[in-house]
Amino acid sequence: MQIIDGKATAAQIKAEIAEEVERIVAGGGKRPHLAAILVGHDGGSETYVRNKVLACEACGFKSTLLRFEDDITEAELLAEVDQLNQDDDVDGFIVQLPLPRHISEQKVIEAIDYRKDVDGFHPINVGRMAIGLPCYISATPKGILELLKRYHVETSGKKCVILGRSNIVGKPMAQLMMQKQYGDATVTVCHSRSKDLKKECREADIIIAAIGQPDFVTADMVKEGVTVIDVGTTRVPDATKKSGFRLNGDVKYDEVAPKCAYITPVPGGVGPMTICMLMKNTLSAGKKEFFD
Ligand code: GUN
Repeated sequence: MQIIDGKATAAQIKAEIAEEVERIVAGGGKRPHLAAILVGHDGGSETYVRNKVLACEACGFKSTLLRFEDDITEAELLAEVDQLNQDDDVDGFIVQLPLPRHISEQKVIEAIDYRKDVDGFHPINVGRMAIGLPCYISATPKGILELLKRYHVETSGKKCVILGRSNIVGKPMAQLMMQKQYGDATVTVCHSRSKDLKKECREADIIIAAIGQPDFVTADMVKEGVTVIDVGTTRVPDATKKSGFRLNGDVKYDEVAPKCAYITPVPGGVGPMTICMLMKNTLSAGKKEFFD
């Protein structure tokens, strides 16, 4: 069994990005600039955004954080998005989700210029991804593909079961694992209404668990030699931690890991790769790699 070390892989990729940025700047090019909009004071969002700003520093990017209270109106937020769309110094930007209930997340996502949508959430990027065109691929699925590639996990022709059908992970992951240029696998998507989910999992060569239910995948659900990618990051109370909680994956790691060829831990697996892939997308934005 080999543990897929997302933390070390992410650190290596960030170092590779930083090197490339210095080459670009030394050659007279522009330092990539990522902006982030954070609305309100959600604990998880604060942490994510802080880590994104730190990752920008590690990569040698310029970053700008725009903070607003949660009473900002939808119209005001849309005006902020438009300003970033118009700002030639900003290569890419994100609006951290979730947003307060009085603001339509979909409206905000669709207001972002798709050429600066480094989250890859805009329908143009989602659509281009689905038909295999150059685009920003959202960070979590992109990070999973990168881990599979860097650990030489064979995916072509393999049976891949994806647990979960969210827009951010399950759906794009299924699209990517299916496509010849990425996973080239036979893909099954299971969700809360799936019959015989256990049987589907037991036949899988690769399981990607993204349902947000702690310890959902148990040893009896997997075959020997499976590769397991755990996307779960549910906060569960833990009195031994200073924060009072720990992150729990969708996989019962201790009993599943011994049966695996490869497995990602939580934390330290998919999580660190997600921010790292946002950095990769920002580098692409700076280089105008996908769109002029
Ligand atoms: N909230 C949780 N994950 C994400 C993400 O990847 N991007 C944004 N913008 N918000 C999030």
